[in-house]
Amino acid sequence: MYIILLGAPGAGKGTQAEILSKELGLTHVSTGDLFREAQAKGTELGLLAKSYMEKGALVPDEVTVRMILERIAAADCAQGCILDGFPRTLGQARALDEALLSLGKQIDRVLYIKVPSDELLRRLSGRWLCRKCQTPYHTITNPPRVAGRCDRCDGELYQRADDTLETAQKRLEVYFAQTMPLMGYYTEAGKLVEVDGNQAIQKVAEDSLAVLR
Ligand code: AP5
Ligand code: MG
Ligand code: ZN
Repeated sequence: MYIILLGAPGAGKGTQAEILSKELGLTHVSTGDLFREAQAKGTELGLLAKSYMEKGALVPDEVTVRMILERIAAADCAQGCILDGFPRTLGQARALDEALLSLGKQIDRVLYIKVPSDELLRRLSGRWLCRKCQTPYHTITNPPRVAGRCDRCDGELYQRADDTLETAQKRLEVYFAQTMPLMGYYTEAGKLVEVDGNQAIQKVAEDSLAVLR
């Protein structure tokens, strides 16, 4: 099963992808995480991605599509995967459909996680992430058991450079302009399902599983 998680920055894509991937036995693939890994390793791809990410802009389609198609060709995605943060433009969505079609596969469901704009900024400004396993936490709504350490792997928690108010606002603008059109694209394809993302994390996960199963 190939599932896309669609939603604004801070909607809870990463949070839900972690839960859903365990429940459904599917690999979690996040373009943002892949770019951040490349940056941490200091690769050419990482350096290129950094120049866009620090401004809150999208990395060019050509680069992003090449990276994701390579990733989903890996053995751990043979039975499908949960795509978090991809596609984000109509060009990416079409390229993904074509690539899957050539393998005799297709996207099964697109889960739109709906959250009001004022809540999104509140979530981004309080977010902390694990440096090792990328699990997201929130100082108020989802704190770790031990301050500064990951519950799952004891890794160090850090705040993302693009979670400043200015860059987060820019990311929201980019989302409304470039990613919102995907709602129409996947509605027409009969694949879009919606979940109320403005509820407790566990409740969002339950509702998501109910519409996906
Ligand atoms: P990416 O890393 O994908 O960032 P994003 O889309 O901006 O989304 P976020 O990761 O900020 O939010 P999320 O929905 O995952 O929320 P989370 O679960 O963490 O992309 C970063 C950059 O990489 C882009 O700007 C771009 O430059 C580049 N990029 C990535 N993909 C690309 C692509 N396809 N094409 C081109 N460029 C690309 O939750 C947020 C916070 O809220 C956390 O603190 C969490 O604990 C909390 N929270 C979650 N759920 C709840 C809840 N139900 N109630 C209360 N709090 C909650
Ligand atoms: Mg994320
Ligand atoms: Zn961790």
